[in-house]
Amino acid sequence: ALVEKGSFRHFMEKEVHEQPESCQRTLSAYLDPVACAVRDDIKAGIDFSQIVRIQIIACGTAFYAGSIARYAFEKLAGLPVDVEVASEFRYRTPAITPGTLAVAVSQSGETADTLAALRWCKEQGMHTAAVVNVHSSTMAREADLMWPTHAGPEIGVASTKAFTAQLSALLSLVVCAARQRSRITAHEEAHLVQVLLGAPGLIAEAMAMDAEITRVTYDLSKARDVIYLGRGDMYPLALEGALKLKEISYIHAEGYAAGELKHGPIALIDENTPVVVIAPDDALFEKTASNVQEVAARGGRVIMITNVPEKVPALSGDAGKSLKVITAPSCDAFIAPLVYSVPIQLLAYHTAVHKGTDVDQPRNLAKSVTVE
Ligand code: G6P
Repeated sequence: ALVEKGSFRHFMEKEVHEQPESCQRTLSAYLDPVACAVRDDIKAGIDFSQIVRIQIIACGTAFYAGSIARYAFEKLAGLPVDVEVASEFRYRTPAITPGTLAVAVSQSGETADTLAALRWCKEQGMHTAAVVNVHSSTMAREADLMWPTHAGPEIGVASTKAFTAQLSALLSLVVCAARQRSRITAHEEAHLVQVLLGAPGLIAEAMAMDAEITRVTYDLSKARDVIYLGRGDMYPLALEGALKLKEISYIHAEGYAAGELKHGPIALIDENTPVVVIAPDDALFEKTASNVQEVAARGGRVIMITNVPEKVPALSGDAGKSLKVITAPSCDAFIAPLVYSVPIQLLAYHTAVHKGTDVDQPRNLAKSVTVE
């Protein structure tokens, strides 16, 4: 079917705005809103209590979705997870732990490196699963289990709604794993399911950040380098934010774990290097806030994305004047990666629009890389 942009300027913009629906569709496939539990047909295909370890393999944005899911699988389900880019995994002869479930994550289900890695895992006798948006794809066919995302067709080369659909599916599977491994009670399962089902509404609320974001992106579009910082699962989201900016605005961007700042990247900080800090009000907020002060003390311009603007440390002098705070909706930490995906996508989008680059078809990039 022909997909149209409608009233949006670009497919990417349209796809960002479709996320309340695409996440809702994906979550509905995994979660039963009446029973407040993971759906029986999802549970039937898998017994996470028999799995010793998960190996996630993916490329690009899908790799960051897997990297975010790792934090939740380990924390809530007590399940060790390794995540690796498929192009490395497939060529390095990884050691295999018996009882490993290999999970390929891919929008297209056709990415050459991910497919090769998945096939290798199968040959080694591993149990395999594929989280895919194209349900008739090669990975969907070849993996033992197919875990669908329901983002619908994604046209923009830079992935947005497929990413949050992957997060929706993976976080639902975390709840399934936590329950099957007796890490949570039925009551806790019901709570987490409710939290997840609340995500589409919060993603819709996050769209309201658009106005505040457009106020900072003109400046951002003039930068040569941008640094993204986050802690915990906001760290891989910082990496995804940097990737989005690079892909569509051609501005050099790097994501760092905020705690790693002092081990190198702080040397790059000056008034010409904006620093985007993703800092929801979670257990790590104070730590990230102190990183903001370190950046400000070196003249860095900070753009802070947080739901607690009142807790952002007061900065003196030029740092105080250049500090920009973008207010996000408050949410449970479990779904923060979904909610904070929106501002980082909008930040990249509006920066690229200011620069006048080809947002939907960035130079040198392909939607699906089916040859090596
Ligand atoms: C290409 C696309 C990215 C995507 C990556 C993996 O590089 O430009 O947006 O994240 O491939 O694609 P997949 O279809 O496997 O998710």
